[in-house]
Amino acid sequence: MTTSQVKGDKVRYEENALKDAIAILDFGSQYSQLIARRVREHSVYSELLPHSVTAAELKRMNPRGIILSGGPNSCYEEHAPKLDPEIWKMGLPVLGVCYGMQLMSHDLGGKVEPASVREYGRALLTVVHHGKLFEGLDPAIESWMSHGDSVVDLPEGFAVVGCTADTPVAAIADEERKYYGVQFHPEVVHTVGGKQIIANFALNICGCPQNWTMSRFVEEACKSVKERVGDRRVLLALSGGVDSSTLAFLLHKAIGDQLTCMFIDQGFMRKNEAQWLVETFERDFHIHVHAIDAAERFISKLAGVEDPEQKRKTIGAEFIRVFESESKRLGPFDFLAQGTLYPDVVESAGTKVDPKTGKPVAVKIKSHHNVGGLPEDLKFELVEPFAKLFKDEVRLVGKELGVPEGIVERHPFPGPGLAIRVLGEVTEPRLKTLREADWIIREEIKAAGLYRQIWQVFAVLLPTKSVGVMGDQRTYQNQIVLRAVTSEDGMTADWARLPYDLLATISSRVVNEVPDINRVVYDITSKPPATIEWE
Ligand code: XMP
Repeated sequence: MTTSQVKGDKVRYEENALKDAIAILDFGSQYSQLIARRVREHSVYSELLPHSVTAAELKRMNPRGIILSGGPNSCYEEHAPKLDPEIWKMGLPVLGVCYGMQLMSHDLGGKVEPASVREYGRALLTVVHHGKLFEGLDPAIESWMSHGDSVVDLPEGFAVVGCTADTPVAAIADEERKYYGVQFHPEVVHTVGGKQIIANFALNICGCPQNWTMSRFVEEACKSVKERVGDRRVLLALSGGVDSSTLAFLLHKAIGDQLTCMFIDQGFMRKNEAQWLVETFERDFHIHVHAIDAAERFISKLAGVEDPEQKRKTIGAEFIRVFESESKRLGPFDFLAQGTLYPDVVESAGTKVDPKTGKPVAVKIKSHHNVGGLPEDLKFELVEPFAKLFKDEVRLVGKELGVPEGIVERHPFPGPGLAIRVLGEVTEPRLKTLREADWIIREEIKAAGLYRQIWQVFAVLLPTKSVGVMGDQRTYQNQIVLRAVTSEDGMTADWARLPYDLLATISSRVVNEVPDINRVVYDITSKPPATIEWE
């Protein structure tokens, strides 16, 4: 499936880019991306577009239906984000969510006003009439609300199909024109039956075929990479994470030995990780990896560096130096492949409009580069086959391609690696201590069957010492912090409620098995106010 191409800040809408798919017009809600994910969960492709997209552009892309997202504005304000009125003449089914429903009502002749009671959080929705949208749902469902405005007069042709105690017009429908509006958020897990509502709209109302599958994605991505690359060479900087590893598998399938994988070992990987990665790729999958052991270079650059930002900058700068010289040595290359994902490319905040000035707050669809700050003279064209995928979709692609489980299910790992988990100066002995503790922690979490439920779990080595007693002897040694968090996307996180017995096992194993550690503490801070990593 071809999709719209991001060219600088300009989006070129390709013909039939959304054939069989749903276009989501983004009015700036924090949940806009979630709508796209929810539609795709039914094997229907969907893409987020700025609300300013015109009817002509939409026609070109040829979607089967449109969802209007929520947003922070009031649709009756002078400069509120609007829709091209021609879109209402396209004859496509439309589902308006929250702001989307208000805008639909407002544009089609209804009335929207500030609500007498604002509704935030859970609310019981009574289904007045099931119709096509609520087919299969219970007569009353728990829904997730977040609005300060309400529809007070319906446009002609519409009927109220759902209400709550505080919102008499909580869902509307014009079955004839296939226009639907819900004041609540069906994309949020707290809305019971939300998944069914999205399926009803995409499958039954719009009639989308369920052809967005990862096997089809792989097939089409391979074809398009082959066409683009021809007989030229592609460089991929492998990090060992899900995205770059899956990309290596995909590109190897598409262009075989025209792909060169380079792995720069900064010396900050976890125990046995670098070696395991290179061996697995070569032995099991015949993907050759140029492993560059740069550990000494990196660690010597970090001598005496304690400040977290200086650490990150030093590592970043050294990475570029190594990357530059090694890519020249192995090259020349025409393309640089990157595992850029959809959330990096589409910035939903980009469609927020300042109601006072009518100016976009930051209209931008940005191209985000993982290997940031590459020198000017390294002129690569970028190959980013995952630029339309969410992280969970990359995992599915990985499974489809046979990427080992140990990589597909791997927790996120920061670019600067363990260097930002050894607080204070990074030295080889301190890295070794951290590696041992980290190994035990992950081993125990996996043994308890909790690895997949947790977003990230790791050890941090503190630069402080504390007093302990071991075998009647006083000790004065370092502490390990255990950090385990649950999260949807890493933007916010909560500390994981690990069972006490598991905490006890981890603590006693770390103290008994790792030299120089006499204390383990558990980080019980969420993000915000803390961050997931300590530096
Ligand atoms: P924080 O610590 O900001 O981290 O809450 C959020 C998520 O990002 C990961 N992280 C990084 N990933 N390069 C990366 O590729 C980095 O420099 C980096 N720093 C943090 C972190 O592990 C968490 O998943």
